[in-house]
Amino acid sequence: MAIRPIIIAPDPRLKKRAAPVDAVDGEIRRLMDDMLETMYAAPGIGLAAPQVGVLKRVIVVDASRKDAPPEPLFLANPELLWAGDEDSVYEEGCLSLPDQFADVARPEACRVRYLDKDNETQEIEAEGILATCIQHEMDHLEGLLFVDHISALKRSIILRRLTKQKKADKSDVWVPKLRTANAEIAEEEESARAL
Ligand code: NI
Repeated sequence: MAIRPIIIAPDPRLKKRAAPVDAVDGEIRRLMDDMLETMYAAPGIGLAAPQVGVLKRVIVVDASRKDAPPEPLFLANPELLWAGDEDSVYEEGCLSLPDQFADVARPEACRVRYLDKDNETQEIEAEGILATCIQHEMDHLEGLLFVDHISALKRSIILRRLTKQKKADKSDVWVPKLRTANAEIAEEEESARAL
């Protein structure tokens, strides 16, 4: 497994529609493993392949509680079968929009069909933070970011901040570091909800 650099918005690579995978083969499984390691290191609870520069319909998610065992999900070609009538609002972040957060309303439940890591068709019914996370990651496959769900004014403020930061850092990507010290992880608790 390897940690991959994460593309920071605004970036044209994050605005493209990703292509379906033919099958979950060894190459896609490697991508899934790399994405999960990258997501955990960030730390985040979801990551989509376009965020690491791969325009394929692959996402990884783990919305389990911090004090619970990990529950990683690997989804290729996810397809929305059903979304609930009621919305829920979460303050969302995104690993491609570091340190930026905004309230976003999405259906509070959804059902999704996908190919799992063994190339088997699966369905999942999700609610709460998991439903939000899956929908957020599926948006990435359409070239959409959480800021596309908020007002144009708030969006431009956030994107301008990121542009400025990228210029200062002279980089349009960031590379999460593998961290082992618990203290350090606690320190980063704030950003742990980044999708
Ligand atoms: Ni995101």
